[in-house]
Amino acid sequence: MELRLPDLSPILLWYEQNKRELPWRETRDPYRIWVSEIMLQQTRVEAVIRYYERFLSRLPSVAALAECPEEELMKLWEGLGYYSRVRNMQKAARCIMSDHGGVFPDTFEGILSLPGIGEYTAGAIASFAFDLPYPAVDGNVLRVAARLAAFEQDILAPASKKLLTAAVAAAQPSASAATFNQAMIELGATVCLPNGAPRCEKCPLFEKCEARAIGAEQRLPIRKKPAPRKVEQRTVLILRVGDTVALRKRPEKGLLAGLFEPFSVPETLDQRGVAALLADVGIKPLRIAPLGEAKHIFTHIEWQMTGFEVILDEENAQTVCKNLDTGLFFAPRDEIDSGFAVPSAYSAYRAFM
Ligand code: ADE
Repeated sequence: MELRLPDLSPILLWYEQNKRELPWRETRDPYRIWVSEIMLQQTRVEAVIRYYERFLSRLPSVAALAECPEEELMKLWEGLGYYSRVRNMQKAARCIMSDHGGVFPDTFEGILSLPGIGEYTAGAIASFAFDLPYPAVDGNVLRVAARLAAFEQDILAPASKKLLTAAVAAAQPSASAATFNQAMIELGATVCLPNGAPRCEKCPLFEKCEARAIGAEQRLPIRKKPAPRKVEQRTVLILRVGDTVALRKRPEKGLLAGLFEPFSVPETLDQRGVAALLADVGIKPLRIAPLGEAKHIFTHIEWQMTGFEVILDEENAQTVCKNLDTGLFFAPRDEIDSGFAVPSAYSAYRAFM
């Protein structure tokens, strides 16, 4: 099956007249474009802008990223979430230093071969930095293309992505690939909005859109619901002695790898349950105070948390590190901000740390 899209050239002028001024659109430096694309993968544009400038002023080059100490890198990424993105970026930076003489690859295949870079990101960097004629089809562009073609299948299915990507590639006007790809992303982000809310009256492709022609612009695209998230219960204990708080480092692999977190157990406990858990290992807190419930949603998992602040004396603090979890250590509260990356999953309890 082949999908045909209409003439898309009207979006080029539309883009020039309507684009948002975004910092990563001012550059052709593949490194800076790469950083923006990785940040934008799972984070909204408004949130990315702040992180982008700070990241690049501290790490202005591939070489600087390749050499950045892990704790500092995690700190720079703190708040963006999905930390494997930045770990892969550092792997890729090291690979550019060792295998590409420190020069960012300037071919699609070279870019695609780097860790953490898939078809979309490779197309984005190849076109934005080098104007190479590759499509950059992210979720926004998939939606635009699916509506233009009144595509009735699940756009998240790999076969659909392939078809739609090929259709976008075939419809690319011969003018700048960079402008075309940015324009498609922009149309999806600001006009051809998801969840039944397209602003068709503002669309430069209004008259060419199949979905619009048959009145299906609200219903399309079809997105099959992914499997429900696994829900995990967690009781989080902010263990404090004076102006220090107990932290532990998460394992080097898996969810939130290598980041710092307060102690927790994988079940929901009430205040008496917390007291009993601590008493079991010989800990008698001075005070246990409830901090309320909080929720954090990851891609495939949802944490439902209940928090408590536990105030300890010096003697009980030693028992905590010996009997409760040998990975725990007490960090001064005023050093957490500068020295320990704590994932935003714990943001509800961060003020007590
Ligand atoms: N999302 C992904 N890439 C983008 C870009 N270059 N501009 C705006 N939003 C984006």
